[in-house]
Amino acid sequence: MLKLNKSVKTIAVLAAASALALTGCGRADTGSSANGSSAAAGFAKDAEIGVALPQKTSENWVLAESLFNNGLKTAGFKGDVQFANGGVSDQQNQISSMVTKGAKVIIVGAIDGAQLGTQLKQAKDAGATIIAYDRLLLNTENVDYYVAYDNYKVGQLQGQALLDGMKAKKPSGPYNIELFAGSPDDANAKVFFDGAMNVLQPKIDDGTLKVVSGQKSFEQAVTQGWKAENAQKRMDTLLAGSYTSAALDGVLSPNDTLARAILTSVKAAGKPLPIVTGQDSEVESVKSIMAGEQYSTINKDTSALVTQAIGMVKDLQAGKTPPTNAEADNGTKKVPTFYLKPVIVTKANAAEAYANDKVLAPLTK
Ligand code: BGC
Repeated sequence: MLKLNKSVKTIAVLAAASALALTGCGRADTGSSANGSSAAAGFAKDAEIGVALPQKTSENWVLAESLFNNGLKTAGFKGDVQFANGGVSDQQNQISSMVTKGAKVIIVGAIDGAQLGTQLKQAKDAGATIIAYDRLLLNTENVDYYVAYDNYKVGQLQGQALLDGMKAKKPSGPYNIELFAGSPDDANAKVFFDGAMNVLQPKIDDGTLKVVSGQKSFEQAVTQGWKAENAQKRMDTLLAGSYTSAALDGVLSPNDTLARAILTSVKAAGKPLPIVTGQDSEVESVKSIMAGEQYSTINKDTSALVTQAIGMVKDLQAGKTPPTNAEADNGTKKVPTFYLKPVIVTKANAAEAYANDKVLAPLTK
């Protein structure tokens, strides 16, 4: 009788434990912060850390690869840094394989932040901590932290730069503009666009700005896959359709790769160059800014972002809760977030902005 009681009790305890594990609450965590995110109990100093990056659609991702490899190695971890050049299924497989290898933390720069639900659950069930890097992971409980430059702020800075640049060239409007957005599967693309429209929409409403093509929505402005050729083609079409007689004063471009594609299209059409915004401080765009072609970019130092992400891993290793300064709503939960501050760069402040950047500083002399 006693024995039976004991085994019934054991079954009950086991059932409760597996129910907890299923809800992701059964991990051997030391602490849970008020916002519900869990800090790891600490793990081996030489633990496996997975880093799942998207495709190399801009220089920042290429830079992140070596920064993560070197930074994790220096910190004593075994880094496994992967690019998902084959697309979403590639990234899903890479995350699963990181789980199998026993990664204690998985850092994810998602191609499509809404398509990794199954793999993130797998990772959490195995006891890993998930950090969303640069792009938020959407509609899932299974993300612990987010580290990024403030993407909405990036958009606002781009919108303001577009206005400032056009005003410096032609003191009063109305100004003819066109709008470009990033890839719709990237969670950041809409946030950049919304930030920019927060600044531009009131000026469209009061008649200062005119989107001559009429293509004002995010859906109309997107650039699939962040591909330069897609932006260039769309710009060709816009120029041919809406600017045979009208002058184009400015173009909102979400990043540098697309900005240069837009400028290439305008040059090929033999038209005067409009004010074009950007983001990422890519080498070719900084050169273009210094040459007076692209108007602006955003300085989002990749090294600082990777350092912040690795700092989170070090805290988790030590069983500490990483510091955060914001919350990002991913549709399911408010994810504890550390935002870094993006900086707008034009020819006027480039030397100052890149003073400590060995590669970019010489370009601004
Ligand atoms: C990043 C940008 C980058 C874009 C394309 C975004 O998620 O935040 O910096 O330009 O992806 O790679």
